[in-house]
Amino acid sequence: MAKGKNKTVFFCKECGYESAKWLGQCPGCKEWNTFVEEPVIKTAAGKEISRTAAAEPSRLSEVRVTEEVRTLTGIGELDRVLGGGIVTGSLVLVGGDPGIGKSTLLLQMCQQLVNTEKKVLYVSGEESVKQIKMRADRLGEFKKELFLLSETDLDRVVDVISRMKPDVVVIDSIQTMYREEIGSMPGSVSQIRETTSVLLHLAKSMAISVFVIGHVTKEGVVAGPRILEHMVDTVLYFEGEGSASYRFLRGVKNRFGSTNEIGVFEMRGCGLVEVTNPSEYMLQGKPENESGSVVTCSMEGTRPILIEVQALVCQTNFNMPRRTAAGTDYNRVNLLMAVIEKRLGLRMGDCDAYINVAGGLRIHEPALDLGIIAAVLSSYRNQSFDSSTICFGEVGLVGEVRAVAMAEQRVLEAAKLGFKRCLLPQGNKRQMDIAKKNLGDMELVGIDTIHELLGVF
Ligand code: TYD
Ligand code: MG
Repeated sequence: MAKGKNKTVFFCKECGYESAKWLGQCPGCKEWNTFVEEPVIKTAAGKEISRTAAAEPSRLSEVRVTEEVRTLTGIGELDRVLGGGIVTGSLVLVGGDPGIGKSTLLLQMCQQLVNTEKKVLYVSGEESVKQIKMRADRLGEFKKELFLLSETDLDRVVDVISRMKPDVVVIDSIQTMYREEIGSMPGSVSQIRETTSVLLHLAKSMAISVFVIGHVTKEGVVAGPRILEHMVDTVLYFEGEGSASYRFLRGVKNRFGSTNEIGVFEMRGCGLVEVTNPSEYMLQGKPENESGSVVTCSMEGTRPILIEVQALVCQTNFNMPRRTAAGTDYNRVNLLMAVIEKRLGLRMGDCDAYINVAGGLRIHEPALDLGIIAAVLSSYRNQSFDSSTICFGEVGLVGEVRAVAMAEQRVLEAAKLGFKRCLLPQGNKRQMDIAKKNLGDMELVGIDTIHELLGVF
């Protein structure tokens, strides 16, 4: 690191790469125009401490493994995404757009935790204790005491934590915290890096679980360097459409559990309410007997969720047809349109196509392919897709329908919600026929290629 007075260095906003001069392209992550100038850190207090103790390697055979200690938050959807509760001594980052409900979610978590006799500290750099109290009043009764601190100076926060020794600490938000020694503004790359490393040290040395809130930039990543995500144990993103009341909590990284789990909530006047049956919720308001609407099933972690895919295909008025994809991958949609054009001989090149995954969930699973194609065909032919049928399957470039994982769970979820027929990859149907599982009165229709889809509308 460069030394000296009043010097500045340049950091990559994406990955935290450090350079003495400005660079157009980051050598670390190869992104362009990501360098920002910041003052040099004069002393790094955390580093001095760690140098005093001589490091000793451990023998593998002598390392005692104890199961990590977990505390249930009492909010089932949050526990699921965390991988079965809060791990003692872990550092969790909760990211999301401003106003999505991060503070509300974590305050509700605090409410549940204090009710189970935990000592909890909520540190806010954004709101006064009065404002937090007003929010807490909306959330209902706090049976035991919750400790509040309105502070942005990290050293004072650390001081309070060291004296108080709480079980769980919430820091709202990482972008408002700063350390005096570091010359740069709160929210800058070096401040975020430093505050996170101090909190990490605190969490590990005192066995305190720390939750930090981070705001997200327009590009959809937590403001500050990616390095923040590398440092913490768990990264959760809270997302949803601003106008809709559903909120999805998604695990992006988890050192103590699987990632792709999601938790579903609804924002109400009294805070966030868990949605334990998301399929039912996602299909609310689905139009009956309209063309361009198809129900499919996506696996979110271990949980099948039924979702409606909508397509609107119409004659284009432009030289270049317009294509949009909301809630799914734009390039995948383009690819599937090309497969339809080539393999079914339909002139998609003359058509605009708008694809929407209803409900505000973002899904990138290939099992959605067949649903997207069915919705496009339904809209193109102006013919409704049977409303008691669901379909799922991955589609290849030759138009073949390929088997997907966990087909049985998907079929069972559809049966639970009253669907009568399921179009699925032939490969999956064969396996199910062999296993002879009881799937109620669900009719299974195996499909080999997308040609067969045309005959089953
Ligand atoms: P908030 O938790 O402050 O969002 P963030 O911390 O992610 O910026 O949530 C703010 C929004 O939630 C605000 O628009 C008001 C709404 N809200 C409710 O609808 N009901 C409630 O009970 C609460 C506390 C907030
Ligand atoms: Mg907030």
